[in-house]
Amino acid sequence: MKGIILAGGSGTRLHPITLGVSKQLLPVYDKPMIYYPLSVLMLANIRDILLISTPADLPQFRRLLGDGSRLGLRIDYAEQDQPRGLADAFRIGAEHIGDDSVALVLGDNIFHGPAFSEVLLRAAASVDGCVLFGYPVQDPERYGVAEVDARGRLVSVEEKPLLPRSNRAITGLYFYDNDVVSIARDLRPSPRGELEITDVNRAYLDRGKAALVDLGRGFAWLDTGTHDSLMEAGKYVEILQNRQGVRIACVEEVALRMGFIDVDACHALGAELAGTGYGQYVMGVANLARSLEAVG
Ligand code: DAU
Repeated sequence: MKGIILAGGSGTRLHPITLGVSKQLLPVYDKPMIYYPLSVLMLANIRDILLISTPADLPQFRRLLGDGSRLGLRIDYAEQDQPRGLADAFRIGAEHIGDDSVALVLGDNIFHGPAFSEVLLRAAASVDGCVLFGYPVQDPERYGVAEVDARGRLVSVEEKPLLPRSNRAITGLYFYDNDVVSIARDLRPSPRGELEITDVNRAYLDRGKAALVDLGRGFAWLDTGTHDSLMEAGKYVEILQNRQGVRIACVEEVALRMGFIDVDACHALGAELAGTGYGQYVMGVANLARSLEAVG
């Protein structure tokens, strides 16, 4: 399965902050926002990733992540010169996807919850059509909304409906089989002029090939769209990390745990940032893994 991170857009709701820097590079407590969706793809065991952003912002992403090899990944980059909609990712990324399946994650979505990797691996293994991830919210009219019947089957998807049929938002993480390439190619722009991801999802639903995985209330799906929600997301990460002593979306740790890099490589990445708590944490993770290896 291939991965795509969509990290374009103009971030107008966060102006003036995002006049000078991409929204998806803003800090969420101790790391850039993009680390969170990147770690989601990694936890789904996806190593071949296309990052799409604006021509102005791509150089900063490149500087941060390079070709991905330090994390045992392959990261390629592609430009989206206008925000033509989320489904434009499958047109821009058609060559990257090839004849594979693909996971799309939005660069501003933050997920955190128990056994998330297992949820992702199960969904990735069984993708026949599309898999969407639902999450209960109190303001569903701000999102794509999913309706399920009494047996838990998906029956409708709507984009920002005035009168939502449920409180189940469709999060910014989507798994698709290869048909997504032709579905996106044939898509017409919506009345607001965008290639809507919800229209892609509806095409799958009409074919009887759309599944929904509920992330449930024990899970965190955090918004970063406003100054307040961005601050709250940072607070969430701060509180959990300080309480538990483990970091959320530490990409070096995820790369080690997924077997993408070895202990020495992980330690070296931490050592480069040794002057920070983040770097010391990464070295600590490597040292712990090394001692566990030694006891066998
Ligand atoms: O976050 C989940 C929601 O994301 C879903 O529930 C909705 O169904 C989906 O349409 C989307 O809604 P948003 O209102 O959040 O979409 P927005 O236009 O804000 O775009 C989401 C991110 O994708 C944003 O960080 C900018 C980036 N983006 C957006 C567009 C339209 C791009 O990189 N390129 C684009 O063309």
